[in-house]
Formats: sequence, structure tokens, C-alpha cells
Amino acid sequence: MRLIILENAEVVADWAARFVMQRINEFAPGPGRPFVLGLPTGGTPLGMYRRLIDFYREGRLSFRHVVTFNMDEYVGLPRDHPESYHFYMWNEFFKHIDIEPGNAHVLDGNASDLPAECARFELLMREAGGVNLFVGGIGPDGHIAFNEPGSSLVSRTRVKTLAYDTLEANKRFFGNDITKVPRQALTVGVGTVMDAQEVMILITGAHKSLALAKAVEEGVNHMWTVSAFQQHPQTLFVCDEDATLELR
Ligand code: F6R
Repeated sequence: MRLIILENAEVVADWAARFVMQRINEFAPGPGRPFVLGLPTGGTPLGMYRRLIDFYREGRLSFRHVVTFNMDEYVGLPRDHPESYHFYMWNEFFKHIDIEPGNAHVLDGNASDLPAECARFELLMREAGGVNLFVGGIGPDGHIAFNEPGSSLVSRTRVKTLAYDTLEANKRFFGNDITKVPRQALTVGVGTVMDAQEVMILITGAHKSLALAKAVEEGVNHMWTVSAFQQHPQTLFVCDEDATLELR
């Protein structure tokens, strides 16, 4: 586990985008052997997506041999709803780069059989050869993807009921009205992300400083699911100075 402390959120975004670019560019893709990238949504990775789009436009990076899998999606929100993660990913990232649309996988929160959709997603990841790099974000309560406090640390992709803290944190995207936030989501499990060869978790802001301290300075604990990554052989926590306030 490595902890990279950078000046502010903007530097974190640039650093993370350069790291993703380096990993994609040093990878030798072959037929049926793409670079497989796991991705988060939320406020934190937006700057990284903007930098990756810059690198693509400058001709320094291509996504033609990249397959992506997103961490999660709300249940029951129409795909074209501005707060669906499908909409977010296309609007903020995919439509600006040269990824093959069929290579960008986002869970379908409107599938008629949600457990089958989760199983299909896991199968697709395996068939793609496994995830080379999973980029993640965490909530102030230490959740990674939607693995809320108390989630199993060996969990796989599944339907999850969201914790009140997450509804509270995400209501800002729904006109500050908590009743508009979907109560359930599909999410990759902690075990799903742990299977990636490398994991990079972005943490910015003082409101996440307790979660960062729990993640790296205390024991592995399913009440702070991000702490599981202490036991991953190749995990990077990339944070800004504000997020380190609670570190000893
Ligand atoms: C999003 C996700 C979540 C977010 C977390 C932080 O796909 O999996 O774990 O990363 O809720 O969200 P922001 O970045 O908005 O603080």
C-alpha cells in the first residue's frame, strides 16, 4: 500500500490522470487482450476525467484498446436521467474520447433481473481478462463503490440498499432532496475490486479525513470497507493535504 499526499484536489486529478495514461500506454494490447480499467463516478474523479480528455485530444492517449467497467449504478433511475451514472460517464468522459461504445460497461439499474445483471457484469470482467487498474473513490463513511459500512469484505457485484449517510451525501445531486435519491444501487463488491491487479483510490477534502485515517492507520474493518485495501498488494491511496487532517 502506498499513500501519495499531494497539495490539492487539482494536483490529485492531474497525478491520477497521468498514472492512468502511463498504465494504458505501457500496456501491450493484443487480440482479445485489452487494458481493463475500473472507474468511479462522483465529484472526486471529475478532474481526472478532464485531464484524460486533454491527453486524448493532445494525441498522447487512446482508448481504442481499453475496456471499462464502472463501479456502480442506481437502481430504477432511467438511463438518460442526468444523475444516472450511465449519463454521467457518457457526458463527462466517454463521449469525449475514442472508446468503442460496446467496451464501456455500466451496470444496468433497470434490468428486469438485477441479480442476473450483477452476475453478467462479473462474467464480463472475467472474460475481459480481469481488471488491470481499478480507480475508486470513497465516501466520508469509508464506503468504496456502494459497499456501505458493514458490507462483507469478500462481497461481489450485487444489489445494495444505500446507507442514510450516503443518501445524505448524494442528495446534493438531487436538488438537495433526500427523498429523490434512489434507495438502492447495483455495486461491485469489495472482493470484485480486490481482484484487480492494481487499485488507485482518490480521496480529497477534509470531510474524508476520518475515512482516510481509518483506511490506513487502523485495522481492516468491515465498518470502513476501504480499509480492506491495506491487504491488496498494489494499492495506491492518492489524497490531498486536506484529507490528511486526521492522520497521526
Ligand atoms: C462512485 C462510487 C462512490 C464514490 C463516493 C465518493 O462510483 O463508487 O464510492 O466514489 O461516494 O463520491 P464523491 O467523489 O462525490 O465524494
